[in-house]
Amino acid sequence: MNFLQTNKKDKLYFIETWGCQMNEEDSEKLSGMLISMGYSSCENRNDADIIIFNTCCVRENAELKVHGNLGQLKGLKKSKKDLIIAVCGCMMQQKGIPQEISKKYPFVDIIFGTHNLHKFPEYLNRVLMNDERILEIEAGSDEIIEGLTIDRKSSLKAFVTIMYGCDNFCTYCIVPQVRGREKSRKSEDIINEIRELAKDGYKEITLLGQNVNSYGKGLEEDIDFPKLLKKVNEVDGIERIRYMTSHPKDFSDDLIEVMKNCDKVCSQLHLPVQSGSNRILRVMNRHYKKEEYLDKIKKIKSLIPDLAITTDIIVGFPGETEEDFEETLDLVREVRYDSAFMFLYSNRKFTGADMMPNQIPDEVKHKRFNRLVETVNQICAEINKTYEGKIVKVLVEGNSKNDETKLSGRTDNGKLVNFIGDKNSIGKIVDVKITNPKSFSLEGEQI
Ligand code: SAH
Ligand code: SF4
Ligand code: F3S
Repeated sequence: MNFLQTNKKDKLYFIETWGCQMNEEDSEKLSGMLISMGYSSCENRNDADIIIFNTCCVRENAELKVHGNLGQLKGLKKSKKDLIIAVCGCMMQQKGIPQEISKKYPFVDIIFGTHNLHKFPEYLNRVLMNDERILEIEAGSDEIIEGLTIDRKSSLKAFVTIMYGCDNFCTYCIVPQVRGREKSRKSEDIINEIRELAKDGYKEITLLGQNVNSYGKGLEEDIDFPKLLKKVNEVDGIERIRYMTSHPKDFSDDLIEVMKNCDKVCSQLHLPVQSGSNRILRVMNRHYKKEEYLDKIKKIKSLIPDLAITTDIIVGFPGETEEDFEETLDLVREVRYDSAFMFLYSNRKFTGADMMPNQIPDEVKHKRFNRLVETVNQICAEINKTYEGKIVKVLVEGNSKNDETKLSGRTDNGKLVNFIGDKNSIGKIVDVKITNPKSFSLEGEQI
């Protein structure tokens, strides 16, 4: 893609990203566009000539953070007249929100959404040349924009989006509204991107989609997610393949088979359960029962040794009774998750659950949440304890964040390991003996 090239080597940009890996990847694309235009990134937003906020709206607190941060920029813009401020991402795809942001924060120069991300260079040039204020949001289309430069944060691990959007309409969730309908990339485009990554030295790929099991729907080629995984497994140079997220209703025997047979596909499964109560699962529009979920877990655990299972759980969905919640705790004890992302239910406008009666008081939600966290964390620590004395294979990512004298990386099944080892191992897979398992990470020594 050709961008208007300007000599802005001394011009700096700063991107703040909230939300999931989809937004992370979008920010890497924005970064790629800015670098192609001659800008450089900076660590501190006070130094930047362009500030971009890439927003999330999955829960209310994500939106509150955006408001808080935008409020802080008012003074900065006053003292730095040429500063350009842009706001984009999922929050901007909600009805009325871009207009509200534009009015409340008149110092914001550019507002755009998730479907017109690729037009950012054009918007930026319009602001620079004509001193315009821009508010442009597009509805989703079937088109997928390929070929954007991605400036990836890591030089070892890369996210590769395989499909956009979601057609599931879980009643609590705003994602289908703001990310649009499902559309899959052609497998050829995905494989070419991964081959390029392998050439550049990348070792680990995470395939991304809101529901990767729907991959291939609507494409002319004969492809589905298990077939795609097999193709990715054949790319030379790539050593580890992960994926997220898989919807339990579509998690198939075919996929288990491929996970078992493809040596590079990691022994890790993120399978969001959301609730352990069939009644709540039904009103959430999840299309599976607790028993079906547990059967799938049992099957995959029996076929894939060392499998680590993680999940997402929502506490306090409208109408959740004490009994419903107890069923969630029971399910957690039965599956024994390696870790879980736990959320307080947050009411989102225009979703199916928005108008549901029996919204749960905050105090009740918090009490249940604390009990859930305690249960999950205890199991997590117990599982980690079983690693004591074991030898695990770690892809070494770099220095440990908390202790510069140590190295850090992840096991095949996704566990974080901090260890004493040889700095020359960075970028390689090495054997590490676990000497001290902690609640949320493992410590060890390279052997
Ligand atoms: N497509 C993925 C991720 C969706 S968003 C999936 O289906 O798993 C990530 C998680 O946020 C969801 O799994 C859910 O647990 C949580 N979430 C979504 N909407 C929420 C809401 N309104 N309140 C609280 N948690 C929510
Ligand atoms: Fe949201 Fe459900 Fe789609 Fe996940 S599958 S993005 S939770 S609607
Ligand atoms: Fe948030 Fe959008 Fe992801 S709403 S969770 S950034 S898809």
